[in-house]
Amino acid sequence: MEFQDKVAWITGGANGIGAGVARRLAGLGAKVVVADVDAERGKAVADEVDGLFVTCDVSDPRHSEQAVAAAVEAFGGLDIAVLNAGIATGFGLGDDFDAERYRRVMGINLDGVVYGVHAALPALKARGGGHIVATASMAGLMAMPMDPVYGANKAAVVGLVRALGPTLAADGVAVNAVCPAFADTNIIAGFKTALESAGMPILTVDDVVDAYLSALRSGGAGQCWYVQAGRPSEPFKFPNPPGPRTASGERVALHDPSQEG
Ligand SMILES: NC(=O)c1ccc[n+]([C@@H]2O[C@H](COP(=O)([O-])OP(=O)(O)OC[C@H]3O[C@@H](n4cnc5c(N)ncnc54)[C@H](O)[C@@H]3O)[C@@H](O)[C@H]2O)c1
Repeated sequence: MEFQDKVAWITGGANGIGAGVARRLAGLGAKVVVADVDAERGKAVADEVDGLFVTCDVSDPRHSEQAVAAAVEAFGGLDIAVLNAGIATGFGLGDDFDAERYRRVMGINLDGVVYGVHAALPALKARGGGHIVATASMAGLMAMPMDPVYGANKAAVVGLVRALGPTLAADGVAVNAVCPAFADTNIIAGFKTALESAGMPILTVDDVVDAYLSALRSGGAGQCWYVQAGRPSEPFKFPNPPGPRTASGERVALHDPSQEG
């Protein structure tokens, strides 16, 4: 069993993609901690996979710390952190702007990942290394006119993962992201019919979970695995931005040339 005796903490594990990852990892031998604000569904998923449920609002850093502590207490450590909890935004920046909901969505979709990494790191390092995989989105790789704030926080997760990847790889912690297009979960329930009418193919949860497994098996770090209908998932190849030049046109020694176009 590939993940025998590995311990996985999954935020947003009560439904959708997180529940799919919980089922798959448990089926491959992992011990799973489902962390969510939805206690009813979270307990059901945890019972189904013989795991543990913890109530966890990822926008509160203490909750993530408590969830990691619960994983360590119940199963002896932590090997995989799946930072997946997320919500849609549903407003623009005009008359429809909602400042309170803005803070809420940033608190979950971005702060929740930051707090999750911070909470998981000591336990992962105590095991000599491990994995962190965040659920970003295609909305973090391309423009998302229908939900600009969601695009902004998912792009921030992409930037965070790319920056952390090389740094934490040195400690044996592989940080990667999975970036799904539209997938068949509660988050798209309000506009699924419109997507289908427009001819947009919708991913299954299993399609997204497959990409999770690819990211966990890859040995890479700082990678953002896109998940698009009808094509295999791969790490997105980011175009390199132009690097700095001195006044006389030479490369700047402090700058890493592999990072520039
Ligand atoms: N389904 C898609 O089309 C799609 C596409 C790209 C990215 N994503 C991302 O995938 C992730 C999972 O979403 P999903 O599609 O499975 O939707 P979902 O609504 O089925 O699942 C999201 C889960 O997050 C939980 N959650 C919400 N707020 C929380 C909080 N404050 N603390 C802890 N848990 C919380 C919910 O209770 C739910 O169980 C999200 O980050 C979402 O942005 C989804």
